[in-house]
Amino acid sequence: MSYHNLLVSDAEGIRTITINRPDQLNALNRATIDELDRALSEADADKKVRVLIITGSGPKAFVAGADIKEFAHFSVEEGRALSADGQRKLFDHVENMSKPVIAAVNGFALGGGLELAMSCHIRVASDNARMGLPEVSLGVIPGYGGTQRLARLVGKGKAMEMIFTAGMIKADEALQWGLVSHVVPQDQLTAKCNELAGAILKNSPTALAAAIRAVNAGYEPGVNGMQREIEEFGKCFGTPDFKEGTSAFMEKRKADFTGA
Ligand code: COA
Repeated sequence: MSYHNLLVSDAEGIRTITINRPDQLNALNRATIDELDRALSEADADKKVRVLIITGSGPKAFVAGADIKEFAHFSVEEGRALSADGQRKLFDHVENMSKPVIAAVNGFALGGGLELAMSCHIRVASDNARMGLPEVSLGVIPGYGGTQRLARLVGKGKAMEMIFTAGMIKADEALQWGLVSHVVPQDQLTAKCNELAGAILKNSPTALAAAIRAVNAGYEPGVNGMQREIEEFGKCFGTPDFKEGTSAFMEKRKADFTGA
């Protein structure tokens, strides 16, 4: 499938999706969100894809936010729809992918950019990255899950501070806060993400999908995460990947998982 605003490349089970509007600092307009929705569905359905990396084009920005120029004249109804559609098509979609998604945060991750990074399962930042939720400086609030996911990741107090001040934090501070897992020099960002992806690739895709569902369940209102863990754990015992993983251990060989 071809895209106007995305670059998609594959290498040994790792699919990298690059948001490619560098002259607009990769701002998320609706067309890009629609393309990401399609690209995610395509990656989820493709058994050859085992891990995803999402990044931004150019040396300056991961994503500098939702496209301000596009929504500046929206009505209340259009604003609400922008948030609801975006959450469904992109942010919840990323979070609920059946394969691990790594955000390679290669520069500014502001507003919708940070919200996208926070929807990914793992975040790695380059040392030039700057992160923030500046929406209140525009007279609006984060609408792509930022008020919820930031508080979960860094705690309510720090989330409130970041949202209220509309300020940006540097990569090393984001690491200290637990907002990102690793910070590396920009020229090593791709290598670090590929290294993480490589470690994940050795493991059972079926178990990874179950782990994503179980962890996410803990954040779903009205869902008992512990109970979901019990169910997902039990289901693993009926999978060929479980037979392969346990047999390989006992036969002292490397497991060859098929994702079944
Ligand atoms: N929406 C639309 N366009 C954006 C954008 C956004 N969120 N962020 C950057 N751009 C565009 C700029 O308008 C500019 O386009 P132009 O050359 O056609 O005028 C281009 O990207 C380059 O940005 P510029 O502001 O010139 O770069 P800078 O290095 O001076 O500043 C930022 C970088 C990230 C600090 C600044 O672009 C910014 O504050 N962006 C908005 C961040 C934001 O509020 N995001 C939340 C949105 S809800």
